[in-house]
Amino acid sequence: MEQFNEQLAVKVDQYIEHLLTPHDEALAQNLQNAREAELPTISVSPNEGKLLYLLAKIAGAKRVLEIGTLGGYSTTWLARALPADGKVITLELDQQHADVARTNLARAGVGDRVEVRVGRAADSLRTMIDQQEAAFDLIFIDADKAGYVEYLDLALRLAHRSTVILADNLIRNGRVLDQQPSDESARGAKAYNDALAANPRLESIILPIIRENLDGLAISIVK
Ligand code: SAH
Ligand code: DHB
Ligand code: MG
Repeated sequence: MEQFNEQLAVKVDQYIEHLLTPHDEALAQNLQNAREAELPTISVSPNEGKLLYLLAKIAGAKRVLEIGTLGGYSTTWLARALPADGKVITLELDQQHADVARTNLARAGVGDRVEVRVGRAADSLRTMIDQQEAAFDLIFIDADKAGYVEYLDLALRLAHRSTVILADNLIRNGRVLDQQPSDESARGAKAYNDALAANPRLESIILPIIRENLDGLAISIVK
């Protein structure tokens, strides 16, 4: 019997990907374009993208909100899960990231159902709340980790009963186990996890996710 270790975890992740998530030209092009534009290589993995896609389908989501677009890799997965009249609004601070994402989304054939809004996510969210934007069926939080608790509070004001709220990078290779994590992203992730645990409006789990490191995706449903 092989021992459970990091190498085995990575091999199992690859096994699942090769078995169930076949090569996709638009998604491969997305990552290639992001690399050429020198965007950080921090998109969700293919398996996590597939998980986002399945969760959106299982939820029957029509309106999706994403916080943190980068090159639109996770956006593409989410957009593909929607019916023809579905819509994704995705929030991005960096104009260059938004430009790359718009090109990628158009090439993937989902440009017509995705709107990329540029600016600080907290500002965009407050504007949406003020303008009484219709509630979202699924919200995916994946921007700066220090902002996560605020994004959760604002997301809850754009949610309805049974909205699914997802958030990426909540294990940070185990650094959230520290009482006071030394880096800001792990502190933000830990604060988000504690906020989930304390929120009576949410039922939640954190699913460990294997990437280069061990990370995690929080899945919550609004009561
Ligand atoms: N969801 C993407 C990855 C997002 S990476 C995917 O999996 O494919 C995080 C993104 O959040 C980066 O593009 C970064 O520019 C953006 N970001 C960082 N701080 C932000 C803020 N305050 N408001 C909006 N976006 C922000
Ligand atoms: C980081 C951000 C992410 O959204 C991610 O998936 C991985 C890493 C980061 O900022 O380190
Ligand atoms: Mg992430």
